Amino acid sequence: MLYADYNGSSPMLNEVKDYLRLRMQSNIFANPNAIHSLGQKINSAINESRKTLAQYCGCDPYQIIFNSGASEGITQILSSILNEAREDQKIIITSPIEHSVVLNILEHYEKVKGFKIIYTNVDLHGQVDLNHLRELISEYKCAIVCVMAVNNETGVFQPYQEIASLCKEVSVPYFCDTTQLIGKVPFNFNESQLDYAVCSGHKLGALPGSGFMIIKDRTQLKPLIFGSSQEGGQRGGTQNYLGIETLAIAMKEHFNSYSLINNLEQEKLLFEKNMKINFPEVQIIGEDHPRLPGTTLIGLAGIHGQAVQIELEAQDIFVTTSSACTDNNPETSKVLKAMGVNEDIGRSVIRISLSPSCLKEDYSKLSKALGQAYLKLKKIDAFGY
Ligand SMILES: Cc1ncc(COP(=O)(O)O)c(C=O)c1O
Repeated sequence: MLYADYNGSSPMLNEVKDYLRLRMQSNIFANPNAIHSLGQKINSAINESRKTLAQYCGCDPYQIIFNSGASEGITQILSSILNEAREDQKIIITSPIEHSVVLNILEHYEKVKGFKIIYTNVDLHGQVDLNHLRELISEYKCAIVCVMAVNNETGVFQPYQEIASLCKEVSVPYFCDTTQLIGKVPFNFNESQLDYAVCSGHKLGALPGSGFMIIKDRTQLKPLIFGSSQEGGQRGGTQNYLGIETLAIAMKEHFNSYSLINNLEQEKLLFEKNMKINFPEVQIIGEDHPRLPGTTLIGLAGIHGQAVQIELEAQDIFVTTSSACTDNNPETSKVLKAMGVNEDIGRSVIRISLSPSCLKEDYSKLSKALGQAYLKLKKIDAFGY
């Protein structure tokens, strides 16, 4: 089997599986908020994990709040800010390439609370237009700027550090969706000058259902889930302590394998180059900007992406079309539409996303299987219906 959907979700890391096996055998399960010794043991493990994550993410342990993952973090952060927005600041500046979690919450605030959303331009290669964003920020008094760090479909890095500086100059809160960034490449919260960051454990190979947010100033955050004093009263409910422990294990493993990222990037570029030599008409989306190592969004004009996906699955290779969340939709994705990608290419794309643990042979296997699928499907007029 070749799993090539790491942006959708990462298989659990071996180190996490090993940890969990031993952890189960220890038979220490208790409520971390109980003051008996078992509870306190678990509470200490949570705080050790917090310290480890803070060390690898360049923040203070106090700035980390555990939760169920990115969607929850995004919802809590955005609602905390927007619920407090002044009447004369009911404007949101964002990009049209944000993940649906972000766009859906913002649209909710537009419909229900009378906010106005203003979208930045995005260039042909999938990066937010910084000059346009700068103009918007100086023209409008907004409640928040939301621009992601890395796009999940194209893998294109967004200029999030520059955006953080811009927002700082005018004292506007900046929410950066870091779901595809944390753990995949080195990240330092404080150096990036971000106000907020989010992470999902399943993107890191930790236990699904675990995650955390990093909050620069915790006084700005309102609870979404009310409980008692868990996570300083800002995220109620008994903590998912096994998940939390695996977050720290996984993050440490990623930190130790950052040296392999360059290799992955080189193998990806070679794969893309070979695809273009063999099939000059294929397009690598976002090719002109720095992209996440291991992510390729490839357009095979005239072919249906889902047909390619099925062909690959028959060979035990797992990819998605644009993103895992929209995989069931044969339409051109919103992200590609915002980039001005035409329908012919838009409906033909498949996303390949690998991790540094993947091997050179994985790209060779993909190259061969994708080439064969393309030659076969090219004979069929996919859009001739
Ligand atoms: C950029 C981005 N933001 C947010 C999310 C939501 O993450 P989750 O479904 O783990 O909450 C994803 C998931 O794919 C993502 O890629």
